[in-house]
Amino acid sequence: MLYRLIYCSTATSQVNTEELATLVERARATNTEHDITGMLLNNSRFFLQSIEGARELVNELYARISRDARNQHVVLVKYGQVPERLWPTWQARFLTPTADTQALLRRFATQGQFNPYTMHPDSAERFLFELSQLSE
Ligand SMILES: Cc1cc2nc3c(=O)[nH]c(=O)nc-3n(C[C@H](O)[C@H](O)[C@H](O)COP(=O)(O)O)c2cc1C
Repeated sequence: MLYRLIYCSTATSQVNTEELATLVERARATNTEHDITGMLLNNSRFFLQSIEGARELVNELYARISRDARNQHVVLVKYGQVPERLWPTWQARFLTPTADTQALLRRFATQGQFNPYTMHPDSAERFLFELSQLSE
């Protein structure tokens, strides 16, 4: 059974560029091992992440992330069984201000800025998907 979980959270002061690179490197290795795909987005303040894979593995990973001191105010955005993956691989992106990302933000931003806590669950999912389709 394939599940998809989307959550958002707030980065703590423990997260600097170096720490984020280490986190992403380890996450990529573990996720590949567990056949977990999806997308991790960070804009230096917030995280928005989609996790796809076997139900138990997705749940366990979410529990670990919720306890991880590198983020706080972890909020479940969307969770459920899905027929197929939206992300065939796992990727991590930083929300860099390019023309493409600015255009996406104009469509998905709430109150004029990127705030995953105030996004509709379906919009959050769509936003992550469309962002993953943009070239880096
Ligand atoms: C925002 C955020 C996203 C994370 N995403 C992943 C992930 O996709 N895969 C993963 O294995 N660990 C991820 N981690 C790291 C886990 O929270 C945890 O540190 C890691 O799985 C090792 O857990 P352990 O120390 O309990 O073995 C993430 C952490 C944070 C703060």
